[in-house]
Amino acid sequence: MGRVSDRSCIVTGAARGIGRAIGEALLDEGADVCFADINGPLVEQVAAANAERAAKAGGKVIWAAVDVANRDQVRAMIDKTVAAFGKLDVKFNNAGVNKPMNFLDVTEENWNFIMRINGLGCLIGMQEAAKQFIRQKTPGKIVNTASVASRQGFDNVAPYCASKWGVVSLTQSGARDLAKHDITVTGFAPGVVATEMWEEVDRDLMEIGAAQRPGQAMEEFSAEILKGRVATPADITGTTTFLASKDSDYMTGQIVMIDGGMTLV
Ligand SMILES: NC(=O)c1ccc[n+]([C@@H]2O[C@H](COP(=O)([O-])OP(=O)(O)OC[C@H]3O[C@@H](n4cnc5c(N)ncnc54)[C@H](O)[C@@H]3O)[C@@H](O)[C@H]2O)c1
Repeated sequence: MGRVSDRSCIVTGAARGIGRAIGEALLDEGADVCFADINGPLVEQVAAANAERAAKAGGKVIWAAVDVANRDQVRAMIDKTVAAFGKLDVKFNNAGVNKPMNFLDVTEENWNFIMRINGLGCLIGMQEAAKQFIRQKTPGKIVNTASVASRQGFDNVAPYCASKWGVVSLTQSGARDLAKHDITVTGFAPGVVATEMWEEVDRDLMEIGAAQRPGQAMEEFSAEILKGRVATPADITGTTTFLASKDSDYMTGQIVMIDGGMTLV
């Protein structure tokens, strides 16, 4: 028996990076998982590549194309999951974006793009998952992806930091509001994780003159990590599976830092 056997889970932003790893780790421990992402063709491939992994642990895998900030699409993703697995137990709001700009250059467009996905997408994901748990009359778990940028404001990524501080607030507000329905809301905060997001951020920081060579920004960002290295998605998934499991039932409203000791808060 895995820690999440027979649990029905949705992970957004699951076509690559941290989200894909979260979904795969859940499958390894027996869960049924809907891999959801705005990149439909890629997430379909990821689900297909995981069919054997799911079968091996006794679970099932499906996929959904979704823009997390579009309520109708989020509802359709939940309906598809419930039709396939019979219920929903755990919802990971993991999809996120970043687009660095120098503080004085940040535009309304940049702010709205980031806040829509990281902020509004998280709120809608929480609301629609909670409504499903309430309809089912079962307990439920919501797990949000925060960041070290939820605990400190960094230069060149101000809207991203604001959006990730927002994720902490939504986690706390949701935990308070949904406790009466036996729904818990938690989050986890990665530091620097080697994913394609960071490759893109690295390129963007060079473009705006905040770094001079590839890899420089990641090196500078990572200099304070007590563990002495950046994370891989595999460093994150022990905790995310714990947050999806019964072992974390008495936790709510909390953000778990998984940053190798980058920020001590
Ligand atoms: N990589 C890091 O160092 C790091 C650190 C802290 C927090 N995070 C957070 O972890 C999460 C995953 O990051 P990652 O590094 O795996 O990023 P990534 O860019 O590699 O993957 C993000 C995925 O989200 C999807 N996505 C983007 N917009 C979407 C939308 N509107 N609807 C649905 N899906 C959408 C993308 O298609 C992509 O597959 C994000 O919330 C990110 O902010 C990452």
